[in-house]
Amino acid sequence: MGQRVVVTMAIPQCGVDVLEGAGVLVEGAEGRAPMPRDELVARVGGCDGLLCMLADRIDAALLDAAPGLKGVANFAVGIDNIDVAAATARGIPVTNTPGVLTEATAELAWALILAAARRVVEGDRLVRGGGFTGWAPTLLQGLQLGGATLGIVGAGRIGTATGLRAKAFGMRVLYFDRSASEGLDADGARRVGLDELLRASDVVSVHLPLTDETRHLLGASAFAAMKPGAILVNTGRGAILDEAALVAALREGRLAAAGLDVYEHEPALSPGLAELDNVVVLPHLGSATMATRDRMATMAAESLVAMLAGRRPENLVNPEVFDETRPG
Ligand code: GLV
Ligand code: GLV
Repeated sequence: MGQRVVVTMAIPQCGVDVLEGAGVLVEGAEGRAPMPRDELVARVGGCDGLLCMLADRIDAALLDAAPGLKGVANFAVGIDNIDVAAATARGIPVTNTPGVLTEATAELAWALILAAARRVVEGDRLVRGGGFTGWAPTLLQGLQLGGATLGIVGAGRIGTATGLRAKAFGMRVLYFDRSASEGLDADGARRVGLDELLRASDVVSVHLPLTDETRHLLGASAFAAMKPGAILVNTGRGAILDEAALVAALREGRLAAAGLDVYEHEPALSPGLAELDNVVVLPHLGSATMATRDRMATMAAESLVAMLAGRRPENLVNPEVFDETRPG
């Protein structure tokens, strides 16, 4: 009998084709909203593989409901939705989709930087609302990027790609990361401590993964340390910011604006956030280009096919699972 996998939401057809081409029976792959938890738990019971989304919480209880699981392929680069230690303890390999979404996400970070700095969404609302009565010297003045400093918080692939695009705008780049970014170093960017970055940057762009160490890394004291009138952009994970503290900093005008693609309590927004004119809010679109979503679907499906065959997949997050010296 063929192996069965659950795909928790509709994905680009090329991913389904990879699975079916390998003789795998695909279940699900149809919803436009996250699969309810109880449905997910019920469906994984007899399945061999799981292709899941960043809103699916893959924890010990879920893994225990799926004793036959041979692999979990996350349709995302971020893996904060998965209890990787619990998967490793059960010998279940986990994969993500790095690399293929780097450009798309860096481009979206720039969309938010430009939109927040130049008040693009406020301007659009003004025009549509009939409030544009003619050119005016003081209308919707924003922050000039040329000559300003961009601070990259988290200089992995996406942070580096975002920083490398700053030269085109004539910006100076600082970055904070525990490791050096070869790409940014070669480009003349300077690696600094977080405090120096916050004090010196006109635009701060967040690109960290969400971990116990990065949760609420930027809260009231960070926003107070930032330059008055600075802009904050987040395309990483919402909970890296203390969103209530961000609302306060934006309301007080300490920060000029923010551009957010991700939320602390996603998809919910913290009270007051949506009412602020100086925030651009997007529905988690970082990787949402047609080319990238196709590549993510293919990559996740190919990884799952490898795991179903007992092979070591590319983009393995927990290599210990294939480590022969692993106890047990
Ligand atoms: C999206 O946020 C991802 O992690 O791929
Ligand atoms: C994710 O791919 C990152 O390293 O930024």
